Amino acid sequence: TAHYLKDYRAPEYLVPAIRLDFDIREEHTAVAAELSIQPQPNAGGTLVLQGSAELVSLAINGQRLPENSYSLENNTLSIPNVPAQPFSLSVSTRLYPHANKSLMGLYASGGNLYTQCEPEGFRKITYHPDRPDVMGIYTTRISADRARYPVLLSNGNRTGSGSLPDNRHWAEWHDPFAKPSYLFALVAGDLVCTRDSFTTKSGRQVALEFFTRAEDAGKVRFGIESLKHAMRWDETRFGLEYDLDIFMVVAVGDFNMGAMENKGLNIFNTACVLADSRSATDADFERVEGVIAHEYFHNWTGNRVTCRDWFQLSLKEGLTVFRDQEFSADRASREVRRIENVAFLRAHQFPEDAGPTAHPVRPASYVEMNNFYTLTVYEKGAEVVRMYHTFLGEAGFQKGMQLYFQRHDGQAVTCDDFRAAMADANGFDFEQFALWYSQAGTPVLEVSGSLQAGNRFMLNVRQSIPPTPDMAAKQPMMIPLKVALFSADEDSFGEPIPFRLPENLSADANTHTEAVLTLQQAEENIELQFEGAYRQVVPSLLRGFSAPVNLHYAYSDHELSVLLACDSDPFARWEAAQTLYRRAIAANEAALVSGSPLPEHRALLQAIDYVLRADIGAAFQAVLLGVPGEAELWAGRKNIDPLIIHRAREALLDLIASHFAEQFAALNAEARRMEEEQSGLAEPYEYHPQQAGWRALRNVCRAFILRASPAHIAEVAERYPQMAHNMTHEWGILCAINHNERPERNRLLEQFAAKFRSDDLVMCKYFTLIAASHRADTPAQIQAALAHPAFSLENPNKARALLGSFGRNVPHFHAADGSGYAFLAGQIGRIDRFNPQIAARLAQAFNICAQLEPQRRSLMRAELEKLAADPALSKDSGEIIGKILQAS
Ligand code: ARG
Ligand code: ZN
Repeated sequence: TAHYLKDYRAPEYLVPAIRLDFDIREEHTAVAAELSIQPQPNAGGTLVLQGSAELVSLAINGQRLPENSYSLENNTLSIPNVPAQPFSLSVSTRLYPHANKSLMGLYASGGNLYTQCEPEGFRKITYHPDRPDVMGIYTTRISADRARYPVLLSNGNRTGSGSLPDNRHWAEWHDPFAKPSYLFALVAGDLVCTRDSFTTKSGRQVALEFFTRAEDAGKVRFGIESLKHAMRWDETRFGLEYDLDIFMVVAVGDFNMGAMENKGLNIFNTACVLADSRSATDADFERVEGVIAHEYFHNWTGNRVTCRDWFQLSLKEGLTVFRDQEFSADRASREVRRIENVAFLRAHQFPEDAGPTAHPVRPASYVEMNNFYTLTVYEKGAEVVRMYHTFLGEAGFQKGMQLYFQRHDGQAVTCDDFRAAMADANGFDFEQFALWYSQAGTPVLEVSGSLQAGNRFMLNVRQSIPPTPDMAAKQPMMIPLKVALFSADEDSFGEPIPFRLPENLSADANTHTEAVLTLQQAEENIELQFEGAYRQVVPSLLRGFSAPVNLHYAYSDHELSVLLACDSDPFARWEAAQTLYRRAIAANEAALVSGSPLPEHRALLQAIDYVLRADIGAAFQAVLLGVPGEAELWAGRKNIDPLIIHRAREALLDLIASHFAEQFAALNAEARRMEEEQSGLAEPYEYHPQQAGWRALRNVCRAFILRASPAHIAEVAERYPQMAHNMTHEWGILCAINHNERPERNRLLEQFAAKFRSDDLVMCKYFTLIAASHRADTPAQIQAALAHPAFSLENPNKARALLGSFGRNVPHFHAADGSGYAFLAGQIGRIDRFNPQIAARLAQAFNICAQLEPQRRSLMRAELEKLAADPALSKDSGEIIGKILQAS
């Protein structure tokens, strides 16, 4: 049963107010809900509610409904002949949170109770329309045993609390803001609170309260500081202020996603809020800062203005990811952050957009909404928001945001409403831009250029969008293409060339060193004019990655080296290096297929030599040395032999490692000196962006050094204990030795696991290493990990660490005998019985099926067909596996 965007109908009954009473008992929780129902003009007389909780009783205006006066089928409750005037509906349900392993609705983790309602978890708690355009004021009373559940939390402000007989107590919460049911939250348990406060720009004193297990309280400081930075940033950059007197964050170890923006009561996966120097890497710190900010920013983009329906999910997620990316960029290293975001998009979203589950930023249909919390909705959605910003500039974009809040505060709206606000606030035509929301697939730009008469550069740009399973033929889109020109002449080498835009593109006759060209047609010719004459002009295209597209231009190796060394845009420099890497891997692959010797890659080696010497900052150096990953290389290809591409890529890494062995050793020593100088050898070290850059560079060097001389592991093993106060170093070392076949590798990993055996988050790193290794004994080690006392299939972080990582382990997952496919499919089948959401995520490792060479394709298909044949398979996994099978 699919849901379609085109079928949207306004709700017939609203629920402007709801009172909830949770009576928490040993094994069950009794929920009494009182819904104020407001029939709308279009109401037909039958009230339809969603719910899957055990239904105890129903009453209208206090009158109990006999069982034959309503029907309950497929989790849909229909009550015919309800009053035409506002009335009250009482719903009483009974929940079993300790038996709920789906981690949706009300569930137990470590003996405490938590909720997750987005998108459709509220219906596991009570009966309700449970759709985001039905908003109401929530009042929640919780009662429970005082010793087992000393902390009782819900949204908004606490309005009362007190004692009850039998060592029980109660608390009541009231949220003054109308909200959709997906933002409801409740937490009950034995937690400690770490407090702080924040004063908003208009003087509101906000209490900040972070709740954790007692043993995690030492890891919340960084999260609290991140929150305060985010609150201040939203005021200064967007003029948005917090609107309640209390903001709570709760950390929970069992959580399906990263975190959840429930009004006033954010609930976080421990992995996205807890961090200290002993257990978290620099990347972990950065993620915590980003996710804390993301959830906080949702208070305006998501909560104050929410989505009309779930097809509009990117309205809040794309916008909020854009906001958190900008926050992180303003915090530190804007250039490197942008490159990291693009690298992530390409490595993960581009393959999604080229695979069987491809869908537009605003999907047209879904079977299970949980399957649409995707990289396309989040990351491509953020790029779509960024394109408004690129067209309008910061001031115009902020004007659009102001109009958006002016028009829609307190409403549930659509992506079109957002687009209209951006257009109307600026008098800008975003009509054609709507296609970014409805057409899936990564657009391709084929660009060619020619220098004419020395003073004009002609660009020919053809755009096309590949067909996706949902749509064959597509229309041309409105694409911002940011360009610049650089001289490659001897006397002006690397200098930017100021140019004038053609009259139809720009009213002003000024010269620019950079311009945003607006592409709108399938093919366009654009002439850029300049003063003076040049013999060699190199165009810099798609600067800052101005649109989420694949751009092809037949650069010579020499032109790429000009861009790498001289371009003023860091993304363009990085992209020049990426192009050289991609070409080198492709050339290796061709050589491996034909059995000829591997090429020498002189241009690339020269470029790397430049990168290793350049004075460009350690973090930038580190990202420039990052070679595209395999999933990115596969996107858009057919008949893939994963092992050949793997070997082609490994051979390139081996060449770089051996060719620059001395330079990597020297750079590593230099980076070490710089890091130590900056940290003053503070112990324990603190996360700091600048030090993080040096550490990132060290970890890149380490990986190359150990690749070139695996025997070096003996020395590393000896020195390892000295590094063991800093997780970034520990992690870097373990990654660098993880594929090493020598016994030291296993010894170091075992030491690591013993040291951190009671730290769940670090144990996830251990399981990741086990599952990602190319070592021959990896399948056996994974089997052992499944039985490890710290492992649990029911914990999403651990399942992802072991099984998610295995799905990305190219040589083992794609083992020619199909054993990797069989293993993962078997585990997915087990998980699907209790947590369909996680099972469906893991199943996306099979997305590549249709693109594989015939033998692997049929091995994979066989495993998927086995899963699909299980009548108990969830609709989550059924939807994903169905799409994969259909495409292959
Ligand atoms: N809104 C949450 C976030 O910030 C994601 C929640 C998704 N949860 C889920 N069960 N699908 O991004
Ligand atoms: Zn979000």
